[in-house]
Amino acid sequence: MKFIHLSDLHIHSDPSDNNDVESVLDYVQKTYPEHRLIVTGDIVDDGHERQYLQALNFLDKFKGRVFICPGNHDFGVMGNFYEHDRAERFDEKLSVPLEQGGRFAGDNNPVVNIVSENGLKIMLIALDTNLETNHPFDFACGKVGERQLEGLDTILSNPATMSMPKIFFFHHHLFTHNNPFMELKDAYDLMRTIFGRVQVVLFGHKHVPNLWRNSGGIHYILAADNSPGKNFAREITVRGIDDIEVDDIRIA
Ligand SMILES: [Fe+2]
Repeated sequence: MKFIHLSDLHIHSDPSDNNDVESVLDYVQKTYPEHRLIVTGDIVDDGHERQYLQALNFLDKFKGRVFICPGNHDFGVMGNFYEHDRAERFDEKLSVPLEQGGRFAGDNNPVVNIVSENGLKIMLIALDTNLETNHPFDFACGKVGERQLEGLDTILSNPATMSMPKIFFFHHHLFTHNNPFMELKDAYDLMRTIFGRVQVVLFGHKHVPNLWRNSGGIHYILAADNSPGKNFAREITVRGIDDIEVDDIRIA
């Protein structure tokens, strides 16, 4: 089963600002009609209703094979200030119409989708890592929170799905990248919860691509570039729990 990791689409209110994202999504739709897409947040630029309408217009054609999580720009003005109305809008205008397996706004459990193809089942686990805070510094770091961590532990402890390959994704940074102040506030607790229990971890946010192999008991940890205007994205091929491959593929 094949997945493409896209991130940080930053869809704007004015359609003329969305030419790059539109052309990437057109190319992906035509070139990879069977691939599933995972978009790790900042899908819109500041959570305005017009942006969500355009995002749904772009992503609806992938319905059933696109999986998303929110970023700081989806829930907040300029990506700096959390607003509950914008968080609710993400669910109402985008996540629910795209038929994701749950809701992100508020204090929720992880959103789980199970996809299957030719007898192979893969669990996709998405988190909301936005911190409900008024401080832009904390909002840029993000936090998983106790409720999601407990929910995640319960999901990963289920013996019925223990042998199922798992792709786990969220927006903010699991690692500091090159900025020591931009790491999830509970990154250590998250890492402790997922250690050796998921096979692929995906995130975005900084618009800097990176790849860590066999780190923290996880086969691949991937940070995505912002996809619009870029030529390449990562393709993840999953054949089994220990048979996973990552390649760069053209998206434009
Ligand atoms: Fe971001």
